[in-house]
Amino acid sequence: MGNNDFYVRRLHSLLGVVPVGVFLLEHLITVSTVMGGAKSFDDAVAKLAAIPHELLIFMEVCFIAIPLLFHGLYGAYIALQARNNAIGGYGYTRNWQFYLQRLTAWYTLLFLIGHVGYLRFAMKGSGVPIDFALVSAHLSNPIIFVLYAIGVVAAVFHFTNGLFTFTITWGIAKGPRIQSVVNKCAWALCVILSVLGVVSLTRFIA
Ligand code: HEM
Repeated sequence: MGNNDFYVRRLHSLLGVVPVGVFLLEHLITVSTVMGGAKSFDDAVAKLAAIPHELLIFMEVCFIAIPLLFHGLYGAYIALQARNNAIGGYGYTRNWQFYLQRLTAWYTLLFLIGHVGYLRFAMKGSGVPIDFALVSAHLSNPIIFVLYAIGVVAAVFHFTNGLFTFTITWGIAKGPRIQSVVNKCAWALCVILSVLGVVSLTRFIA
C-alpha cells in the first residue's frame, strides 16, 4: 500500500465513524420517536425542519452527503478488491464478519440510493413534507417494508462491526483479548440498534 493509499484508507475509516456513523445514530434516534406516536415523530421532524434552510443544506452537504459519498464510493472500490474467498477455507466468525462487512456495504449502498432518492429527493425535493402519514403510506407496501427492515439491520451491522474494525485499524484495540471484548460490545450494540430500528419501522404500520 503506497503512502497516499494509506492516508486515503484512514480517511475512509474515520469518515465511517465521524460523521457518517454519528449521523446514522442520530437518524435512528430521531426515527425511534415514532414509538411515542405519530405526533411525537412529526414534532421531531419539525424540529429538524426548523433549522434555517441554508444552514440545513450546508450541514446536509458537508456532514452527510460528501462524507457518505466518499466513504461509499471508496468503500465500493475497496470491496471490489477484497478477497472474500478466505471465508470458505477457515470459517472463523471473524472471516464471516469480514464477508458480512462487504455484503452489508453493497446492500446499504443500494438501500440508501432508494431511501434517499425517494424521501429526500423525489418527495421533499418536490415540496412534499416528510411526516408520519407519508412514511406510513410508503412502508405499508410489504415489499418496501421488508427492504427497509433489511436495510436498517444491514446499515447497523456495517456500522457496529465497522466500529470494531475501526479500533483495530487505528491501533486502539491491540491484543486478542481487548479485541474480543470490543467485538462482543459491537455485537451487543448491533442487536440493540437493530431492534430499535426494526421496532420503530413496525410502529409506522401498526
Ligand atoms: C450508513 C452508512 C455507513 C456507515 C455508518 C459506515 C461505517 C463504516 C465504518 C465505521 C467502517 C469501519 C472502518 C474501519 O474498519 O476502520 C466501515 C468500513 C467499510 N465500509 Fe462503510 N459505512 C457506511 C456505508 C458504506 C457504503 C455505502 C459502502 C460501499 C458500498 C461502504 C463500504 C465499506 C467498506 C468496504 C469497509 C471496509 C473497509 C476496510 O476493510 O478497510 N460503507 N464503514
